[in-house]
Amino acid sequence: MILTEKKIFILETNRTGYAFRATDGGVLQHLYYGCRLPRPEDYDSAPVILNQPGNALLDGDGVCREDLLQEAGTVGWGDLRAPLVDVTFPDGGRSCDFRFSHFERPEKAGPEGMPAAVGGETLKVVLKERTHDLYLELYYTVYEDTNVIGRWSRLINDGTETVWVNRLMSQQLDLPVGEYDLVTFRGAWAREMDMLRQKLSGELRWSSNAGVSSNRCNPFAMVCRRGSGEEHGDVWALNLLYSGDHLGTAQVNAYGSVRLTQGMGTLRWELLPGEKLDSPQAVMTFSAEGFNGVSCQMHPFVRRHIVRGYWQDRERPILVNSWEALYFKVSHRKVVSLARNAKNIGAELLVMDDGWFQGRSDDSHALGDWKADLKKLPDGLAALAREVNAQGVRFGLWVEPEMISQQSELFAAHPDWILGHRDQAIGRNQYVLDLTRPEVCQYICDSMTALLSSAEISYVKWDMNRILSDVFSPALPADRQGEVAHRYVLGLYRILDELTKAFPEVLFESCASGGNRFDLGMLCYMPQVWASDNTDAACRSHIQMGYSYGYPQSVLGCHVSDSPNHQTLRRSPLRSRFNVAALGLLGYEMDPGELSSDKIEEVREQVEFYKAHRRLLQFGQLHRCPAGDGECFTMVIAPDGSEAAGVHFVWENQPNPKSVPLYCRGLEGEKLYRITSRSTRPHIMDFGSLANYMSPIRIRSGSLVEKAADRLVKLPQDELELTASGTAFCHRGFYPIQPFGGTGFNGATRLMRDFDSRLYLWAEEKE
Ligand code: GLA
Repeated sequence: MILTEKKIFILETNRTGYAFRATDGGVLQHLYYGCRLPRPEDYDSAPVILNQPGNALLDGDGVCREDLLQEAGTVGWGDLRAPLVDVTFPDGGRSCDFRFSHFERPEKAGPEGMPAAVGGETLKVVLKERTHDLYLELYYTVYEDTNVIGRWSRLINDGTETVWVNRLMSQQLDLPVGEYDLVTFRGAWAREMDMLRQKLSGELRWSSNAGVSSNRCNPFAMVCRRGSGEEHGDVWALNLLYSGDHLGTAQVNAYGSVRLTQGMGTLRWELLPGEKLDSPQAVMTFSAEGFNGVSCQMHPFVRRHIVRGYWQDRERPILVNSWEALYFKVSHRKVVSLARNAKNIGAELLVMDDGWFQGRSDDSHALGDWKADLKKLPDGLAALAREVNAQGVRFGLWVEPEMISQQSELFAAHPDWILGHRDQAIGRNQYVLDLTRPEVCQYICDSMTALLSSAEISYVKWDMNRILSDVFSPALPADRQGEVAHRYVLGLYRILDELTKAFPEVLFESCASGGNRFDLGMLCYMPQVWASDNTDAACRSHIQMGYSYGYPQSVLGCHVSDSPNHQTLRRSPLRSRFNVAALGLLGYEMDPGELSSDKIEEVREQVEFYKAHRRLLQFGQLHRCPAGDGECFTMVIAPDGSEAAGVHFVWENQPNPKSVPLYCRGLEGEKLYRITSRSTRPHIMDFGSLANYMSPIRIRSGSLVEKAADRLVKLPQDELELTASGTAFCHRGFYPIQPFGGTGFNGATRLMRDFDSRLYLWAEEKE
């Protein structure tokens, strides 16, 4: 709900309230962002600072802007903090003073050429620069149901001279004096989303200048009151619908108040008379219930307002991906065999990853030439897709359309289509195509349209395997090079818009060496993202936990891969690899045909189990539950609270362990639930030489006898089953069956190895 009274603007969601007003002089003063307040008058309480001692300045209206909480900070007029807007006027001056002009309530509004969240109620506030014909429009959209507010900004040059935009941020949030922490998510390839909590003092940033939103630092961030935690305390979260360079700033000023800004990264944009420039849309949410409270708002927001179209609410197929099974060695025969093996375990989609196109035998060739390699696929793509479909699984394809290999037909024809100079940093033997050029965007649209129309393709993995560096476009004049990074993203969005509209039922999965472009912008076009190239269960549970603060599991591609793992060489139990991937969009990154028959059976059971609980696992509300050091416990709850699933993951098994209860979250207090553990068969091989303790014959580790015994002897499996109320599960907790820790093994002992886990199910019991 949006209330506008006496130049006070109040934006309310179910649980939050946000307020600002125009001062008598017309400066937009921020009043409040927090829990929803009972009466409109409650919001109007912040001081207008008229006097400040020492060397603080007063503006023309006698207001000291240095410490005034504002909506749209600018350069000059005594405000020393990072501005929302920074422009250079024709005389070289940057001092800028925007004053309230009027407001409107547009039906629909989103930044031009960029994605916006769907739905919501919008307020547009128009400000005019005092001495120039420059307008700043601030757009606020309230997504009441999910307690999220969206913001973006538009600059309009209504004058007769050019101005240069140095900065146009999407959102600014000024918070009153307090003790706060900043929480950001940082990383690199294969170790995305590592949570970093820092005391907020002085100036901190979270940003990317990699040309993509990047795994170095995700745009999602939180600011919380010091002492807040998973389940308690005031937390403000920010995110951006943008896939390129981004910048977030957090500053504590000399008087202790805080300014947060978030928007595009480095920019210098020439704004000609009559032109406008839009920022991407940003979003923010507030919860008084800690980080978990934020996740419980951000997840439904992403599910309902970011992800859209055919796949928004549809259950996602279980896939087998060829990458870790075949790498570049794909061929018609191998892919059809993989499809058969995929069908055999119950999977629904076979994805042919990299290596299928003309001359692509390693990563040095052919990006840009999107035609099947007829040596590997002699019958062509259409025939292969037909044969894959004939095995009873759908066919999906990997592409990397924004890239060009130096060794490609495309490069021979258009060497000038690369971004930057030829003499530049090169990554994976490839250059980035210059998407600031319309003809390059057109080529990508045309080649992808031809490719996707040429065969029965149900799924596309859209990859992007290097960052932008040496950002320069020969197609633009010298004084417009500061626009290249943003124009690249605009070009990308034009392409994605066209292709996803042309192929609405194709399931697109975004990827950038895993999570190097994991952001809300991409999710507006593609409903899921390959979260990380790291498929190691131990690493993955950490990475997926990082994502879970801001993103629901319904957007995370999560695959079971071989052991030892290809990224870490770590061995981990198959059940554990499945349990971790089950809290996301399940796939297998291996050839199931290579597994032993009992492992194939185990995988079949996993797939069957996942199908039976798919809606819950993919779309249930995720909660991070309390857990000890070296463990994590995550639950997903059905929207009506009638069922839940949870995974308890342990990094390191301990001998003679303590009995520690697990405390659930999200279950409904009054409801009665029956918990069961998903049964998993223990293996003789897990015991090594210890098996001799109970075996009548000598068993040597790794011997054929051991393998035979492993197959034939069924050891008792741990099965937990008990009934209790939701309140009891959450507050009293439950005790997992005691793990094996040095002595004794029977059905009342749980066999846990390092990196092991258990998956539990809760079903409501009707009395
Ligand atoms: C990237 C992706 C992988 C795989 C390879 C193929 O690294 O993240 O999943 O598709 O490219 O080259």
